[in-house]
Amino acid sequence: MRRNRQFSWVRELVSESRLHVSDLVWPLFVREGNNIAEPITSMPGVERVSVDLLVKQAKLAASLGIPAIALFPVVDANLKNEEASEAFHSNNLICRAVKDVKSTVPEIGIICDVALDPYTSHGHDGLVKDGVVENDATVEALCRQATILAEAGADVVAPSDMMDGRVGAIRSMLDTNGFQNTLILSYAVKYASAFYGPFRDAVGSATSLKGDKKTYQMNPANSREALREVALDVAEGADMVMVKPGMPYLDIISRVATEFSLPVLAYQVSGEYAMLKAAGNNGWLNADAAMQESLLAFKRAGASAVFTYAAPDIAKALK
Ligand code: PBG
Repeated sequence: MRRNRQFSWVRELVSESRLHVSDLVWPLFVREGNNIAEPITSMPGVERVSVDLLVKQAKLAASLGIPAIALFPVVDANLKNEEASEAFHSNNLICRAVKDVKSTVPEIGIICDVALDPYTSHGHDGLVKDGVVENDATVEALCRQATILAEAGADVVAPSDMMDGRVGAIRSMLDTNGFQNTLILSYAVKYASAFYGPFRDAVGSATSLKGDKKTYQMNPANSREALREVALDVAEGADMVMVKPGMPYLDIISRVATEFSLPVLAYQVSGEYAMLKAAGNNGWLNADAAMQESLLAFKRAGASAVFTYAAPDIAKALK
């Protein structure tokens, strides 16, 4: 075995998977204001930025060869309510961010999350009635949200809410409104995970979230159920599917990639990023090397691309 490992050239030659800058999607948090970059304590190196600085980050991403960014709004607490009404205003923060990025950096792909949690006072991804997250009322709301995102110029809408039937409903809503070319990246397989903790800090839903998301996000014990989720979203018209979180669920990425022929993406979520960064900052491991190794593992498992908060650092390292 060691003959094939002697020199760098032969290791490269026989390498079965590769991490390339074109595999990366950079998730970014956008907030109100001007020239503001506010560090997120639980995500070292990640900031909530105002739209003007977001445009700069998008330019950086494009210059590094990162194909797409994923945008998440940090909504002012006084705009959050039970009905998530701010999500449906066509001039809200996320729509203004999309328009500004699109007009300045037209070459970069813009992916927008579709879910109500940045906008709800209770922190759930859907509308709550009598303590229950209502499926069909939420789907109708998500369709409206997806339409205004497409109108603003989002290339990809990415429902991350885990309601049933939302991919098909969003597809037909987009089609009837003239957005036949808007892609749908479905967070088809999204587990109810403790690894989303830092993200909820980042968007300010951590303190407001009442209860947990176990009635709509998947049970970490299940893998056959993941295949049902993907099959439904494929039938409803998803263009790509996401498995999330990433590293604890490599077996799921692998199964989905083996059994389906549409692109599978992985999300190295906030908690995974935070763990690697924290250990690195303590000098306990080489965070850059560990980051690259974990991202390569997603490729090996069968992912076409990976969402990672480390995208610009990795892109620079791969140059
Ligand atoms: C919102 C959403 C979440 C993430 C992406 N979209 C959090 C959640 O479902 O609570 C998590 C991303 C991350 O942890 O990096 N629906």
